Amino acid sequence: MDPISAATHFNPYDVHYPRLRARGGLTFDATLGLWVASSATAVAAVLNHPACRVRPLHEPVPRAIVRRPAGQLFARLMRMNDGPRHRCPRAAIEAGLGQLVASDLMPTLANWRPALVAPLRAADLRRWQFALPVALVAGLLGVPTEQREDLARRTGEWVACFSPLSNESQLLAADQATQHLSAQLQAVLAAPEHSPLLSDILRRSGDLDPQDLLANLVGLLAQTHDACAGLIGNSLIALLADPALCQHLRQTPAALAPWLLQRQRLDPPVQNTRRFVAEPCTLNGIELQAGDCVLVLLAAANHDPALAAVTGAAATPPDFSFGAGVHRCPGQGLAQNIVGALLQALLRTSDLSRLPLRWCYQPSVNGRIPLFEDSLEAGQ
Ligand code: HEM
Repeated sequence: MDPISAATHFNPYDVHYPRLRARGGLTFDATLGLWVASSATAVAAVLNHPACRVRPLHEPVPRAIVRRPAGQLFARLMRMNDGPRHRCPRAAIEAGLGQLVASDLMPTLANWRPALVAPLRAADLRRWQFALPVALVAGLLGVPTEQREDLARRTGEWVACFSPLSNESQLLAADQATQHLSAQLQAVLAAPEHSPLLSDILRRSGDLDPQDLLANLVGLLAQTHDACAGLIGNSLIALLADPALCQHLRQTPAALAPWLLQRQRLDPPVQNTRRFVAEPCTLNGIELQAGDCVLVLLAAANHDPALAAVTGAAATPPDFSFGAGVHRCPGQGLAQNIVGALLQALLRTSDLSRLPLRWCYQPSVNGRIPLFEDSLEAGQ
């Protein structure tokens, strides 16, 4: 196991991440050719330092997609930029997302078409895990009901362009999905009436380039896709293994949100992110040079015994599952709301622990996303 393959390892938490933290929190991995931040202090230092950028200066768009439609959309995303191209779309979008923290999604799920039924096999569960979170966000943006799940499927095709593991046919599908997603969101923008979320975003968008706005609306679907699928999947693994817990959460719905917060810290869907040093700087007492790359192990920092001391002292969230600093996830509250609502609905509709499932992690360099398959035996 290395700090990258740890993301999809069965258990990186007990030995691998503690061993990395014990080496000092920020160390150079000569095999991978990058710095690795693993302690809460080092992760906070990197994510809050202005010299640490989200993309290398010489490669704002990954080489594999730079001249392709998928790459043109990528280039406009706030997640992939620093400076005005990050600040301006974020200023337009963040407040509207923040208002959805407490919105009640249960009536939407109750009236969903095609109706939501208890999952009987892995394919049913994949709908809850991958399609519904994105479809819910698409609905909040104003995408018509009948297009939402198809848009979620297309989003799944587009996000493949973010992964260095994708092959040519996946990149081709990502290009086609880019055009489809852009056209669908453009139609929503051009409609005579807008959803409350989109109205809020448009009110705050000022002179934001319309193409940047469009790209970042598509970006919301992309950010939702893998991360929510991971949080739902990792929560399901814990639920599938524990019928008593399912029973408790079914009978005491108020216990679900605190349980989910704990799961999100212990088994986060985004295990790591990267930062690229743009100018010499000192991080965790170590001097880094322009051109250095830092692998930021959010999941290792979440398990650091010093986590509470670090996040309590700095302007960071209680854990690093949603990042920290200027790129911190603006969809955190909405994501927790979506995942909480879907898990609550799942707990109501089915006896999860009876589902005959096995699972493995989707190949990824940073996400921890279980893929469920049918099995003759329950659980794994
Ligand atoms: C469980 C679900 C989610 C998790 C764990 C998650 C996690 C994260 C993390 C770790 C980052 C920071 C990446 C970095 O700094 O390198 C991030 C950024 C972002 N997330 Fe999320 N996210 C989730 C769901 C969502 C949802 C539902 C939305 C919106 C609908 C969203 C929108 C964004 C955006 C736009 C960014 C980029 C922010 C920026 O660059 O300023 N996320 N997310």
